Formats: sequence, C-alpha cells, structure tokens
Amino acid sequence: MAAQFTPRVFSGIKPSGGLTLGNYLGAIKRWVAMQGPEFETVYCVVDLHAITVWQDPADLRASTHEVAAALLASGIDPKTSILFNQSQVSVHAELGWIFNCIARVGWMNRMTQFKDKAGKNAEKVSLGLYAYPSLMAADILAYHATHVPVGEDQKQHVELTRDIAAKFNHDYKVDFFPLTEPVIEGPATRVMNLRDGTKKMSKSGESDMERINMLDDADTIAKKFRKARTDPDPLPGELEGLKDRPEARNLVDIYAGLSDQSPEAVLAEFAGAGWGRFKPALAELAVAKLAPISEEMRRLMADPGELDALLGKGAEKAEAISRPILQQVHDIVGFVRSRS
Ligand code: AMP
Ligand code: TRP
Repeated sequence: MAAQFTPRVFSGIKPSGGLTLGNYLGAIKRWVAMQGPEFETVYCVVDLHAITVWQDPADLRASTHEVAAALLASGIDPKTSILFNQSQVSVHAELGWIFNCIARVGWMNRMTQFKDKAGKNAEKVSLGLYAYPSLMAADILAYHATHVPVGEDQKQHVELTRDIAAKFNHDYKVDFFPLTEPVIEGPATRVMNLRDGTKKMSKSGESDMERINMLDDADTIAKKFRKARTDPDPLPGELEGLKDRPEARNLVDIYAGLSDQSPEAVLAEFAGAGWGRFKPALAELAVAKLAPISEEMRRLMADPGELDALLGKGAEKAEAISRPILQQVHDIVGFVRSRS
C-alpha cells in the first residue's frame, strides 16, 4: 500500500529584486488562499536559489526583507504558516546534494528555464544555476510536501521533483517521498510583460515599464497600465474574441486575478468597452488591492530586526520537520550515523 502523507504545502520565492504583480497573482495570493485546516503550509524565501546569479550582498539582504514583508502584508500568517529563509535550514543544501546524485544530466538539459536564462552564455553561467531544479526538489521533498502552488513557469520543475522522488523511491526500493502535485490555478498563472504580451512579466526584465512592482505608487501603476501595449480593438463579449490578442488577454487576466473573477465574467462586464474605459478601471482596481499591501510592507521593512526574529522562529519550525526526514534519507542511503 502506498504511504500516507500529511497534506502539506511548500512554496518558495527568490529574493532577487523587487516583487512584481506576477509574483503576487501567480504565487503569493494563492499561498495565502491555501492557509487553513486542509493543509500545513510552509513558505520559504529561497536565498540559496537567488545566488545562482550574482546578487550584491546588501541587495540580497534588502530583498530578503522585502519578500518576507510582502508575504506578511499579503496575509501569510506566521501563526498558521511556517515562514523562513532557506539558508537558515541547512537541510535544503544537504538534501540538494543527495538529489544531485539522483537527478540525471539529461533531465537537467531539458529544463526550459535554464535554457532561457543561460541563452548563448551556457558556458559562463554558474553550476548552481544548472543544478537549481534539484535544489528546488530538495526544498519540496525535505517537507514531504504534497502540494506546491506556483506560477505556470515552474510546472516543469515540479514535474522534475516528481521524477527525482520516483527515482529515489525506485533505486532504494522505498516508498519514502510523495509524488508532489503542482497547484497552478486561477486566471493569472502566467502574467505577461506589459510591453510584450508574449513574454513573462519578471523582476529582471530590462524596462521598469514592462512590470508592475508591488511597491509601485498609485501614479506609477496608472501610468504603466496607460502605456501598456494593446491593440486598437474594443473588448469582446467572449473569451474567443481574445484569441491572438496576447496583450489584451493579459490585461483581462490581470483584472480577473485581482478581482477574483473569471476572465469570462470580466468580459461580460466590459464587452464593447475601449481601452480608454478598461485601463483606468484596471489601474483603479490594482491600486485598491496593492496600496494597502505596499503600505504594510513599508511599515514592516522599517523594522528588519523584527522580520529577522520572525524568520528565525520559522526556520526553527522548518528544521523540526525537515531534519528528521533528512536523517531517514541518510539511513536509506547508507550513511553511517557516527555522531549519534
Ligand atoms: P520567482 O520570482 O522566480 O522566485 O517566482 C516566485 C513565484 O512567482 C513562482 O511561483 C513563480 O511561478 C511565480 N511567478 C513569477 N513570475 C510570474 C508571472 N509573471 N506570472 C505568474 N506567476 C509568476
Ligand atoms: N524556482 C522557483 C522560482 O524561480 C522558486 C522556488 C525554489 C520554489 N524552491 C521552490 C517554488 C520550491 C516552489 C517550491 O520561482
């Protein structure tokens, strides 16, 4: 009989530059929604992942505080959820190494995010960037997490996590790791760049005009939506009418994500409207949702000591779950416990 696993959610976010509306709709908002009696929830600021590309140390510290503040301000409750930064629980790196010896180079070569990030520069990127999905599998499996809420771009990495779990279970003839489910839900699992509807909105895109940052003020948000690329046509009444209109589709999906409606419901409300009506409505909605969060973020970021104390407590709770799991892995693999 298959082993039973406690329903447990794990997810992570990199402290590598300012958070975007993509992070909020694709990840953070979903993490908040998964808190409750159904799951134990474990959320991590993945600083080990951030340094796969160069991070200035002062910026890394600031981004770690920004992400922690964003999670708290958005409604992650440290009494309900475990919230911590990855480097403080060395289990992640230790299990990551073991998974480096389970995962195959051929699997890594198929990772589209690595190919996109490395581009023509594949010889020059860090070895960590290449091994990154195996560390991500360790993040998840160190908690025997059953569900991982992420944006669409992380689907392949969660599938790889399942492959690593299955190969470990198979090679060592155990039923030890769960086959984790990705949870990619809602209308905004892939928020696109405001200037090019075929590219993902990301922290690292060249121009600030292509993304909404969680800390942008109301005027900036309004300006960015006003200048967002669109086409000349008005909004259709049905989803079918947004086919081959990626920029229009993106703005409708953002509206849907922010207002907790389906894109169909948004179109029912705005059928026939031009951008002159839709864009200001979208900006107003985004400001109404983001302003209270960014205000609370700034308040929390003003006291980094308090944030550190909170992350530290979370790390202790995270360690209490993951260390015994790692110890069992050591026994399964055949490491001699010479210290205990
Ligand atoms: P990262 O900023 O790469 O650490 O991503 C953290 C989380 O945000 C992951 O679950 C991503 O899938 C999600 N995410 C990042 N950018 C987007 C986007 N443009 N649309 C939807 N989800 C996103
Ligand atoms: N790789 C994820 C990203 O870039 C971040 C991440 C690291 C993560 N470890 C994770 C997400 C574990 C979910 C679960 O967005």
